[in-house]
Amino acid sequence: MIEQLNTKEGEALMPITIFVTRDFEHMSEVAADIVKKNIIRILLKKKEIVLGLATGNSPTGLYKHLAKAANGGEFDSGRIRSFNLDEYVGLPGENIQQRVMHPESYCYFMIQEFFGFLRKKFIETSVPYGTLIDQKQLIKELKAYPEDWEELSRDAGRSIVIKAKPASKYLAWIKTTILDGYARKIRRTGGIDLQIIGVGGRGHVGFHESGIPFKNSKVLLVKLDDNTVVNAVADGHFPSEKEAPRHAVSMGAELVYQAGTVVLLANGERKVRPVAESLLGEVTSDVPISYGQLYAKRGGNLVYVLDKIAAGELLACKDVLKKKKIEIKAV
Ligand code: GLP
Repeated sequence: MIEQLNTKEGEALMPITIFVTRDFEHMSEVAADIVKKNIIRILLKKKEIVLGLATGNSPTGLYKHLAKAANGGEFDSGRIRSFNLDEYVGLPGENIQQRVMHPESYCYFMIQEFFGFLRKKFIETSVPYGTLIDQKQLIKELKAYPEDWEELSRDAGRSIVIKAKPASKYLAWIKTTILDGYARKIRRTGGIDLQIIGVGGRGHVGFHESGIPFKNSKVLLVKLDDNTVVNAVADGHFPSEKEAPRHAVSMGAELVYQAGTVVLLANGERKVRPVAESLLGEVTSDVPISYGQLYAKRGGNLVYVLDKIAAGELLACKDVLKKKKIEIKAV
């Protein structure tokens, strides 16, 4: 059984809406417009807004439009707090500072693709504390203390669940400070108002990989799926699989889909299947973004912004979508 979602109060019950756009640029414009309107609307009611942010190519165009809108005075970026979805563990670098400043760290990415463009900075930005973990020590401790943890998954990507009161001090610190600490920090702000997500290779969200159960998926320590590592190399992020990180810290689906609104972006051929499966198929941890169906059923506001390639299979199944009360809009 999946836990009841705490969607934010005051959000109207809405069906899932799919916007089909021409291409990446158009997808970015349409998504930016949706996000901007939400920010403006929420800032009329609240002093601050909490955004959930993603990395990857998908949201980069959206971020440029948002920064431009903020710099042009359309909304006050000084009233925004943000939380990112995930961060690698195991980036090359001999210490924490080196790992944070590695050009493939998600901290670096966010400054390069978004935060750096803002004239008025956000109140605070948080990225999961993955770079604080030393991957070598993590592997050593996992080996030395097999009783302290268990792996959860039906597939190649695994969630490493550290038990309560582990004997290893290092694993205890990871559990309390790195994992639970991030969830606690989000909770203290009152939760995420609007979450932006992309789609990973097999329909994963953040680094909540295929096969990782939904239950208790708040902030996860993940052993990455080989498919994710292969994609990271294919996309040019790391020169070889050997040099690519093998672990990550990530918000899990359960936490991602607690936001008031979730805006999912996907473009291109690689996204056709996961996007289609997420809405046409069953809710299954094999396709973590399929959790969105439950989220919408429980009152969450779910918006897909796709290009026409990624939307291909959904467009061919309009009738099935209609039965599921999912609205598809060509813009
Ligand atoms: C990685 C990230 C995901 C992201 C995915 C797709 O797996 N951890 O959060 O959604 O890549 O990235 P892209 O948008 O480049 O296709």
